[in-house]
Amino acid sequence: MQAAENKKDKVVLAYSGGLDTSVAIRWLQENYDLDVVAVSIDVGQPPRDDDAIDRAKKIGAVSAYSIDAREEFVEDYIFPSLKANALYQGVYPLSTAIARPLIAKLLVDVAKKEGAKFIAHGCTAKGNDQVRFDVGIVSLDPSLGIIAPMREWQMTRDDEIEYAKEKQIPIIVKKENPFSTDENLWGRSCECGVLEDPWIEPPEAAYEWTSSASDSPDEPEYVEVEFVNGVPVALNGELMDGVALIMKMNEIAGRNGVGRIDHVEDRLVGLKSREIYECPAAIALIKAHQSLEGLVLTRDVLAFKKSVEQRFAEVAYDGLWFGPLRECLEAFIDQTQEYVSGVVRIKMHKGNAAVVGRRSPYSIYDEGLATYAEGDDFDHNAAKGFIYCWGLPNKTVAKTQKKE
Ligand code: ARG
Repeated sequence: MQAAENKKDKVVLAYSGGLDTSVAIRWLQENYDLDVVAVSIDVGQPPRDDDAIDRAKKIGAVSAYSIDAREEFVEDYIFPSLKANALYQGVYPLSTAIARPLIAKLLVDVAKKEGAKFIAHGCTAKGNDQVRFDVGIVSLDPSLGIIAPMREWQMTRDDEIEYAKEKQIPIIVKKENPFSTDENLWGRSCECGVLEDPWIEPPEAAYEWTSSASDSPDEPEYVEVEFVNGVPVALNGELMDGVALIMKMNEIAGRNGVGRIDHVEDRLVGLKSREIYECPAAIALIKAHQSLEGLVLTRDVLAFKKSVEQRFAEVAYDGLWFGPLRECLEAFIDQTQEYVSGVVRIKMHKGNAAVVGRRSPYSIYDEGLATYAEGDDFDHNAAKGFIYCWGLPNKTVAKTQKKE
């Protein structure tokens, strides 16, 4: 009975294993008097060199989870975005943005299981990610409270290290990274430091996943991607699960310098920021997917889908993944993918990924209609009557309104 009375409320913390969230474990205990459940989630970022779970417990977490979410990330977040050819402001494949709702969902799942009343995350007050976490969480469980320690505490990095020393929190203080980065299967983002001056060319040190065009191989490399219903299933004829396929594509496109993006981006919180992204697989696969759609979708569907794609990208960027609009847009997009099956050949060379071939059993490209050579099926006599009707409105305007 005694023990039950002393039971504290629980908070589920998104734990990366880094300095901020390590300090946050103790800070949450001291400032909110909560038991901390640490959750570390694998969305394809490079593994840390130590056991994060073990360390979370040493710092004082009452329990710790390690979740491999890569498959769910690919199936439920990356593939829908690929089917949407989703590029925020026409350039950013949303790598960080689409991982946030998944992490929020997994934190909510753990909170339910643990009977926790709060969720905590390590986002700062100036970024989009806090919005994506907070809105993601309330969309799934409005009863949960949200704590963002880094939005509240006034500690600098040095203060955090000092706090950790004082409280004997085991942290691994690495050499300070000159950039702020985030990584997962769909890409890597890099900001801060010298990148904050949009006039300065990003130093090579800002890039980790891609070779520069000058250091990449002199010979072009060809990759064939097979799609079924808008989703890639094989590379160079070898069937692969989504996680393996994206990892392989990151490797191939990355070594050929494909997927570097230098962008001044409009954040949801109102400010512009200079972002460097490396999204080799995302860029190569989106190009391939777009090209296959060009072969099997009609002109009107392609044109209408463009507007849906842009809206989808904005909804994902803006943290509204778990809202009704994304579901509606996704339903439309899924319907368009019924015949998006076939093979696309990409030529990668010195930073460029060019589609050089595409085929599909559902292709509506008709060589008989297109050819200028022998075997032409196009009804040349039909052209004249069609053009008469098509041009009639303009012709009438010219006669009655634009007389001079
Ligand atoms: N600006 C991007 C976004 O809002 C990426 C932010 C990722 N964070 C980072 N520390 N690089 O989706």
